[in-house]
Amino acid sequence: MQFFDSHCHLDDEKFNEDREEVIKRNLQENNCKFVTIGYSLESSQKAIKLAKKYDLYATVGISPNDIPQNEEELLKELEEIKQIVETERENKYLVAIGEIGLDYYWNKENKELQKLAFIKQIELANEFDLPITIHCRDAINDTLEILKKNKVNNMGIFHCCPHNRELVKEALKLDFYISFAGPVTFKNAKNANEFISIVPNDKMLIETDSPYLSPEPERGKRNEPRKVKYIAEKVAEVKKMTLEEVAKQTFENAKRVYKIVDK
Ligand code: NI
Repeated sequence: MQFFDSHCHLDDEKFNEDREEVIKRNLQENNCKFVTIGYSLESSQKAIKLAKKYDLYATVGISPNDIPQNEEELLKELEEIKQIVETERENKYLVAIGEIGLDYYWNKENKELQKLAFIKQIELANEFDLPITIHCRDAINDTLEILKKNKVNNMGIFHCCPHNRELVKEALKLDFYISFAGPVTFKNAKNANEFISIVPNDKMLIETDSPYLSPEPERGKRNEPRKVKYIAEKVAEVKKMTLEEVAKQTFENAKRVYKIVDK
């Protein structure tokens, strides 16, 4: 059985001590595939390096929590992200632009700048025929408005399943994929079963968001891609599927959305 972790951050400093060991263990012993997600200029550069070195997949992008504090700096960094995409566009390791989006939970003061970064990166994804991966926290209306006004040409993923019924429904209407993360396994997860049931099988993904959000029964520890299995177990339970079926379906979905062609 093989699992596909659609979203993790292997460049994170929490892996500084043993990154190579973690990557090799997850690739070889646990037979996982995973996408290491960029969230800033620096992390995007690192993600691409890791993907090349270890034969992983990577994304590049600037998250709403990592944008510079003025427009001039932002445009400069976006230009550098674009240069990475131009250089790597033929490279099978680069599979999406992200994570991008809006976060009014952590940052309320720079909403206009966040929107600008989001729209510019949707345009970048369209220009290079790439999908996007979206981070949305406490910014539902503005996120949906931007996605409706700025058509995404190559699909996208709402990462870490947003626990809001309307957002999930609207995201599905716009043909986006929904990715379930550790919180669906938490004992206090609100409506996790409902969200899992309303996402059609061909639109669901599973992710760890490692090193954060470690699922039950390893909650509170450092997360890593192999633990995506626990999220698959939860999905299997709710959807009354076998673990193998969930692994296979989410693997196929990840390959479809990220346009991964077998080597
Ligand atoms: Ni993330």
